[in-house]
Amino acid sequence: MRVNKFLAEAGVGSRRYCDKLVEDGKVFVNGQRIKVGTDVDKIRDKVTVDGKQVFKKAQNIYYMLNKPKGYVCTVSDDLGRRTVMDLLPTDQGRLYPVGRLDYETEGMLIVTNDGDMCERLTHPRNEVPKTYAVRIDGIFNETHISKLKAGVEIEPNVVVRAISLRVISSSKEESKIEITIMEGKNRQVRRMLEVVDKEVTFLKRVKIGDLKMTGLDRGKCRVLREREIEYLKNI
Ligand code: URA
Repeated sequence: MRVNKFLAEAGVGSRRYCDKLVEDGKVFVNGQRIKVGTDVDKIRDKVTVDGKQVFKKAQNIYYMLNKPKGYVCTVSDDLGRRTVMDLLPTDQGRLYPVGRLDYETEGMLIVTNDGDMCERLTHPRNEVPKTYAVRIDGIFNETHISKLKAGVEIEPNVVVRAISLRVISSSKEESKIEITIMEGKNRQVRRMLEVVDKEVTFLKRVKIGDLKMTGLDRGKCRVLREREIEYLKNI
């Protein structure tokens, strides 16, 4: 088995993250520093990261978290801000969030130790629909809708579009919309709306694929159900 797969299954991180650890010279097999792409025998070989032995994980764990605003989606934060890890049980070993929601954004976040699932759900090749409830200052009209559906350039040569867009209400003061996107670019929804001169005042991820977050209070998490895990594995 490839070393990045072994490390991902053991819960060290996504395969890309594990490749980076190997590139940075932090991974040793039987005492030898290794290169990206090395195979390991998961029974016989002794694999270490930063000097600590990594064991094959017996079981994966999957949480759905309703992230509040004011938390960062990292395991630790250099600026000492609260992280989503503060909202999860502490006795589950190494867990990490699948993808990111920005500091000001709330809503559904999957947190797991399954590096393979993390890789699949976040890899740009495997486009996964993500749906957001958005509140915007002022009116939202047909011109805004058609621009966002046609595609907007959020950075040089990066054009992204709304796969679907539903206006829930719109007035001079405020509009409420629901938007689905495929990519997961940094602050994508906020930047898409900036392109059409709209400022987001509230942003919440309400769905990943068809998976919804009903009945989970802000700041709370729950273990994913078997059928939800299967759904995410096959999305
Ligand atoms: N779009 C954003 O602007 N922020 C997020 O956190 C997710 C999508």
